[in-house]
Amino acid sequence: MEFPKLRPRRLRLSENIRRLVRETRLTLDDLIYPIFVRYGENIVEEVPSMPGVYRYSVDRVVDAVKEVRDLGIPAIILFGIPEHKDEIGSDTWSEQGIIQRALRRIKKEVPEMYVITDVCFCEYTTHGHCGVLKGHTVDNDLTLENLKKQVISHAENGADMVAPSGMMDGMVQAIRSALDSAGYTHIPIMAYSAKFASAFYGPFRDAAESAPAFGDRRSYQMDPANAREALKEVLLDVQEGADIVMVKPALAYLDIIAKVKEATLIPVCAYNVSGEYAMIKAAGRLGWIDEEKVMIETLISIKRAGADMIITYFAKDVAKLINKGI
Ligand code: PBG
Ligand code: ZN
Repeated sequence: MEFPKLRPRRLRLSENIRRLVRETRLTLDDLIYPIFVRYGENIVEEVPSMPGVYRYSVDRVVDAVKEVRDLGIPAIILFGIPEHKDEIGSDTWSEQGIIQRALRRIKKEVPEMYVITDVCFCEYTTHGHCGVLKGHTVDNDLTLENLKKQVISHAENGADMVAPSGMMDGMVQAIRSALDSAGYTHIPIMAYSAKFASAFYGPFRDAAESAPAFGDRRSYQMDPANAREALKEVLLDVQEGADIVMVKPALAYLDIIAKVKEATLIPVCAYNVSGEYAMIKAAGRLGWIDEEKVMIETLISIKRAGADMIITYFAKDVAKLINKGI
């Protein structure tokens, strides 16, 4: 009987040796927490399909941001639900817009928080599409004009970074030149570069009231079957001046994260989206999986694939565990 000479198990025998050989670590430095701000006053309401995630009115959002700060999370990304929607989403560049009011409040009360704004139109338009419609399709170049107004307004009201998510051609270049000519050369762009037309966005659309009123987003978001095209989108955004590129969703797209990481030298963000969160929460509640362990394993897998940072609704939960020393 021949015994094995090579025994990988030696390096797994105790927690101490496992710590020494561990390749990937989850830290507070990886986390970005999404926050939904809505119209109205004195509102903190849980999103039914996203247990533990809330929509806050502007007067209540500061406490939420302080909680995130106190947990040691470095950044948030803001999504807005405006009182009035219209055909073009003009709330997105209004001084009294929902994001503008939230930005002023947050930057005044919690100036040390790094605030990223999601830049799109779907939450702000009556038709729920990510730009200006011409007939039944989103007109790319008209939308670029409005994107410029939106980012300038976000910058004026204190955004630290802007994150265009509408998958319009040339959006990064349009936004970069708008910011630069207005003197905001220091504001970085995180581009949702490889954003797929995914059914995993369902719970988010409930939360943000942003489901398209007709049709779907497949004429601007990517086909889930395409990997080379994702690299094309990423490389275009890099050329156009993106500072960070994003892959979204994360879990069904770990191969894309790994490829993007290889193909670029700039930081890669992964968006662990609403449906990915909801599935784990739901199965956890039913007692079918160990929610905490599955959460950690999931986030580690996103980092291992190559993400430098993760936008996740789990940020507060995982920060609590990290602070306890998991
Ligand atoms: C819209 C937008 C979406 C998300 C972020 N920004 C969804 C969509 O395309 O409808 C999804 C986030 C999530 O599911 O958590 N531009
Ligand atoms: Zn959109």
